[in-house]
Amino acid sequence: MSEQRDQFSSKIGFILAAAGSAVGIGNLVGFPVAATKNGGGAFLIIYALFVAFICIPVMLAEMGLGRRAQKSPLGSYKALSPNNKGWHIAGILAVITPFMIAVFYMVITVWIFGYLWHSIMGNLDMLANPEYFSQFVNDYGFVGFLVAVTIIINVILIGGVRQGIEKAAKFLMPALFIMLILLVIFVLSLDNAVLGLEFYLVPDFSKIDGSVINGALAQAFFSLSLGMGILITYGSYFSRRDDIVTSGKLVALTDTAVAFTAGLMTLPAIFAINPNTDPDALSDSSVSMIFSFFPQIFIALEGVVGYVGASIAATVFFLLTFIAAITSLVSILEVPTAAVIEQAKISRKKALLFMGIAVTILTLIAATSFGFVPAFTEFTFYADTPKSVFDVIYDVFYDTILPLNGLLICLFVSFHWRRKNLDTELAEGNPGYPNTLLAKYVRLSICTFIPLILAAVFINTVLTKFFAISIF
Ligand code: PHE
Repeated sequence: MSEQRDQFSSKIGFILAAAGSAVGIGNLVGFPVAATKNGGGAFLIIYALFVAFICIPVMLAEMGLGRRAQKSPLGSYKALSPNNKGWHIAGILAVITPFMIAVFYMVITVWIFGYLWHSIMGNLDMLANPEYFSQFVNDYGFVGFLVAVTIIINVILIGGVRQGIEKAAKFLMPALFIMLILLVIFVLSLDNAVLGLEFYLVPDFSKIDGSVINGALAQAFFSLSLGMGILITYGSYFSRRDDIVTSGKLVALTDTAVAFTAGLMTLPAIFAINPNTDPDALSDSSVSMIFSFFPQIFIALEGVVGYVGASIAATVFFLLTFIAAITSLVSILEVPTAAVIEQAKISRKKALLFMGIAVTILTLIAATSFGFVPAFTEFTFYADTPKSVFDVIYDVFYDTILPLNGLLICLFVSFHWRRKNLDTELAEGNPGYPNTLLAKYVRLSICTFIPLILAAVFINTVLTKFFAISIF
């Protein structure tokens, strides 16, 4: 009965698709701003250590698990622990999490599309009005942009792994790299740009405390698309001959390099426009940076390159961010789609239709929770603050469940599936792997301090987010 499982056509196809997933709004905006506010070079060093010593082992575990089981995360947990129903819950979480994160990411992507549209139409002055964003999010125009984004995503997903996801990544990712480099060159040519580089790169270790460390790990996890079931699913589309280990390392490297390069564009742009910017005053939220702050930066360029030049720069920026967001959304929606195809035994088309309807309804609910529908805006209350539907999705799934899913993967590999099976799996396509230093490190860390650190982050997040108690 089983049809041949769709596969990436080559290692490079996989790497671009996985990098497409990893490179997102988090890299272009979240990372540079977090680094500048939290000790510049000191943050960069901590982040790089987390990627190398915590994220890469988790990444290899996810990809290995997926390729072994040849299934979605739910199917993978089930297949590798047929008699232990407890682990099936981890599988369910690994499917629900991406679905819910897709909803909040979809809201932001639709807004980005709206801003891209307006930049192209010459409305940059309107976008730069400080009042505009709150007007924009409460406008019916959202529905039109939502329809457009849904069509774009489904056109890619309907093609499946090789003809859809891989093809799109092979075209979109190089386009993204080129646009990013062009913007960096342009921004660095502006006066005062170097000031921004100073805040971004010069280490200030006095800023580093428990919450910065916690934030750096959460950022690294999110940026590499860990804990979302994405790499389990993509691993299941990876050929047995291909080398998971090298590919994983390259994906991590690409993602980190793009995040780092984005800082060379974002910070210098901010300081070129206002050399007296106080880095501490920059918003923590990527949303307010993208939609309230950046349009003002672009309009300020008018004095240097004229209105048309400023609009072109804004268009390239929003297009770049839009491409990064679309390739991430495609990967995250593939997870529940693959699970529905597999568990309900329906066609890809039907699964996409079902997912499309479910995501659209939830996206509308989340998008109208910024004042448009009061019941969704003041949806609940915790940690002394009223929370909207959007806040709840963000707090529960992005902040809390992601590290939990990472923890569960480590525990599953260590105590149920067994580390030697992971080794054997990773050695396929890379026969020398079990004797490398990396393999020894993964075997040691995945059952000891990685799960301990993830558990500490999880507990700290639950206490701070939901009870307003901070332990570090
Ligand atoms: N890695 C993405 C980013 O940095 C996060 C993400 C991945 C979000 C996949 C959704 C889907 O923005």
